[in-house]
Amino acid sequence: MSIYVTRRPPGDALRVLGDVGHVELWSVDGVIPRNELLRRVADVSGLYCMLTERIDRELLDAAPKLRVISNMAVGVDNVDLVACTERGIPVGHTPGVLTEATADLAMGLLLAAARRMGEGVSHVRADQWGEWKPELLLGQDVHSSVIGIVGMGRIGAAIARRAKGFGMSIVYTSPNAKPEIEAELGVVRRDMSGLLATADHVVIAASLGPGTYRLIDEKALRLMKPTATLVNIARGPLVDTDALVRALRTGTIAAAGLDVTDPEPLRADHPLAQLPNCVVTPHLGSASERTRADMADLAARNLLLGLSGQRLEACANPAVYDS
Ligand code: DGY
Repeated sequence: MSIYVTRRPPGDALRVLGDVGHVELWSVDGVIPRNELLRRVADVSGLYCMLTERIDRELLDAAPKLRVISNMAVGVDNVDLVACTERGIPVGHTPGVLTEATADLAMGLLLAAARRMGEGVSHVRADQWGEWKPELLLGQDVHSSVIGIVGMGRIGAAIARRAKGFGMSIVYTSPNAKPEIEAELGVVRRDMSGLLATADHVVIAASLGPGTYRLIDEKALRLMKPTATLVNIARGPLVDTDALVRALRTGTIAAAGLDVTDPEPLRADHPLAQLPNCVVTPHLGSASERTRADMADLAARNLLLGLSGQRLEACANPAVYDS
């Protein structure tokens, strides 16, 4: 069984795969160039890939022997699931194992942006720290405020649990009501406009798809409070970047904390990287040693299950098993 791995995963995953199949690895430290990827998948039965690879019809055509794809990420917006399902190819992903780490980072970004921690760090580094001042870098409270969580899946619920610990009131949007989470945490479902107008801080934890592309646009930003913070730990294209830059410049909203951006990677001279009221981290939501190793292991288990014809532990296109 021939397996192609597009980037060295952390932990033991490569060894585990190597015990079962013949593994080839793109060992250069960088994203595999598209033409190389298309060439290297020609004979493979299993593809272990990252969110940086576009898995589309062209790639599937280039890999006629492909039986399973395993994406080392929970998000699968880089994969054409419809095309994979049509061809009977199950797509593995990594839900669950990164929930808590990602929720931790969301709270970190919320605190950093609302309490102006980025500006505080720059202030010290620029040797501007003079005497204590009663009005130096005043931000907005996080405790006891209203948090609006866009998307109440696993990560949204984990953010809500943390928010509860901060004494926050919690509103959320979701295509479907979540009665168990409402009962557990006292969260209240609102429509999008209601959430944007009510929340002191808005955190995006929704997945990216055709219905959520640029969900936060100019109009949505205008509905938010001028003191509000926007946090995005999901996918960059959920937010209209140009509209966000304008909103941060003109004071339509107070601050943003972004772990994902559009475009990604974000260059240092991009306005979002330069604006003092915007804190940007480079897609680190799941970036703890343990979480990334757990993701790599789950992705390896998915791949091996698929190669042996068994149902994947975490399958992003379960419809593939219906036919
Ligand atoms: C994912 O898994 O989708 C994250 O964005 C990277 O951990």
